[in-house]
Amino acid sequence: MKQYTGEVLSHRKHGEEYHSLTVVAPDIAASARPGQFVNLRPPADRYYILRRPFSICRVNRGSGWAATIEVIFDIRGPGTAALAAMRAHDPIDVIGPIGQGFAIPKNRQACLLIGGGVGATPLFFLGEELRAAGKRVDVLCGASRASRLVNTLELKRLGAMTEFTTDDGSVGYHGLVTDLLPNMIERCGSEVLYACGPRPMLQAVTAIAIKYRLPVQVALEEQMACGIGICLSCVAPIYNQKGTGVMHVRTCLEGPVFNGARVAWDRYGTDLDEADGPPGN
Ligand SMILES: Cc1cc2nc3c(=O)[nH]c(=O)nc-3n(C[C@H](O)[C@H](O)[C@H](O)COP(=O)(O)OP(=O)(O)OC[C@H]3O[C@@H](n4cnc5c(N)ncnc54)[C@H](O)[C@@H]3O)c2cc1C
Ligand code: FES
Repeated sequence: MKQYTGEVLSHRKHGEEYHSLTVVAPDIAASARPGQFVNLRPPADRYYILRRPFSICRVNRGSGWAATIEVIFDIRGPGTAALAAMRAHDPIDVIGPIGQGFAIPKNRQACLLIGGGVGATPLFFLGEELRAAGKRVDVLCGASRASRLVNTLELKRLGAMTEFTTDDGSVGYHGLVTDLLPNMIERCGSEVLYACGPRPMLQAVTAIAIKYRLPVQVALEEQMACGIGICLSCVAPIYNQKGTGVMHVRTCLEGPVFNGARVAWDRYGTDLDEADGPPGN
């Protein structure tokens, strides 16, 4: 993990709702893995104490100006609004790559990537790495409406089979990704699931994975303050190795990617029991 001043190579509007920032960041591009994220300091005339975390959407491992990372985001508040005002050649303070990414399976070949809304951004990087490793990649992506799906064209290119769902029926299947998931698993012969998106979606995907006895890796996006393991604002309830207790684990450093079956989905917001340990145990 490194902190340094990168340079914005390009900022473009991405569809109707999203922004894409490509940043020249050679050290991060060289070592980033899919599922890891960067912490960007929004520039502004006022001082931002907290950085903002964003999944690495793509990397270009070239040299010089070609050593870039890309993030895609929507405007949620002041930090993302300030980032959306950045232009080519602006300096940008960046820390990364942070956290534990997705594991590439050794023995399983058919990988199904499931995304929800803007949470789908790490799937592009992941899908490219899986394909480079010779895996079959299929994609199932959902959003509230068509304009909230991130880059449908690229997702179609990425997947041997790609399906979309929208809550309002404006594109693809009218309903939730989890409505289509069992059918996709069977049609694609999926052997491992990867999911990123809202927590209720990740929980529902995990339940289906368990039913089908498939491994599932999920990327948790908890609220983060420091983003580097110090403040404990980002903890999630995770079962210990033996499944006998639940621990509060930092999603910024020990995550954001976890085995979905080890996330104690029903324990969010509850006190933990005596088997619980401190983060990192
Ligand atoms: C690991 C990770 C990866 C992410 N990847 C993306 C991405 O690829 N694209 C994208 O659009 N968004 C992503 N997010 C969410 C993004 O960080 C927030 O939308 C952003 O921080 C909001 O900042 P703001 O100042 O505009 O809003 P505010 O709500 O004013 O933010 C204030 C504070 O809350 C934190 N915060 C707010 N929302 C979130 C959130 N959902 N998750 C974590 N922290 C939050 C901010 O970091 C900041 O410290 C990711 C979050 C995490 C944890
Ligand atoms: S955000 Fe501070 S410990 Fe994770």
